[in-house]
Amino acid sequence: MKFFIDTANLEQIKEAQDMGILDGVTTNPSLMAKEGITGTDNIMKHYVNICNLVDGDVSAEVISTDYEGMVREGEALAELHEQIVVKLPMIKDGVKACKYFYDKGIKTNMTLVFSAGQALLAAKAGATYVSPFIGRLDDISTDGLNLIAEIRMIYDNYGFETEILAASVRHTMHVIDCAKLGADVMTGPLSSITGLLNHPLTDIGLEKFLADYKKGN
Ligand code: G3P
Repeated sequence: MKFFIDTANLEQIKEAQDMGILDGVTTNPSLMAKEGITGTDNIMKHYVNICNLVDGDVSAEVISTDYEGMVREGEALAELHEQIVVKLPMIKDGVKACKYFYDKGIKTNMTLVFSAGQALLAAKAGATYVSPFIGRLDDISTDGLNLIAEIRMIYDNYGFETEILAASVRHTMHVIDCAKLGADVMTGPLSSITGLLNHPLTDIGLEKFLADYKKGN
C-alpha cells in the first residue's frame, strides 16, 4: 500500500519523507490556500518545491472546468516536473481530459469521486489514480469504506489498472480499514501516518528494556 500525504505544508511533507515511508503527495486548491499559497505563479513554484522534497508522485489539481482549459492547465502542470500527476475533477469534461492525458502518457488522478459509477468511468478513461473521498461520505452518514470495497470489487472483476487512492482519510482507522479492503494508496494528514506508531505497550516495553539494560551496566 502506498502512503501519500495530503497537504501543501512543506515541513509536514519533509517530516513524512524523512521517515522513509512516503510514496507521494496530494494537494488541492483548499490545501494550497491553507498554506497561504495563492496566485498561479506561486502555486506552480510550490508544486516544484514539493517535487524536489519527495521521490514519488505529486498530484497537482487543475481549476478549469471545461475540457480545453483542463488540457491547457494539465499540460502546463505536467511540464513543471516529471513527478507531477494531473488531478482532474470527476465531471464529464474531466473524464474526456483524463482520456486525452492517458493517450499522451501523462499520469492523472480523478478527484471528488463519491460513487462506484464515477470510479468505473475514471477507470474506463484510463485514470492512473481514482480518489474516492471517504471522510466526506462519512460526514454525511454514508459509509465511505463501503465505497472502497465496491470499487475494489469492480476493478478486480475486470482487471482495471487504475489505482484506488483512498482520499479524505482523516485518522489511523481509516488507513487500517483501507489497507484491509485493498486500497492501493491512501492519502491523509501527517497525523494519520504518525498515529500508526502509537501503542502504550511499545512505550512501556521500551522503558523496561532500557531500565533493565542500565541495571546490568
Ligand atoms: O484528498 C482529499 C482531501 O484533501 C479532502 O479531505 O478532509 O477536506 O475531506 P477533506
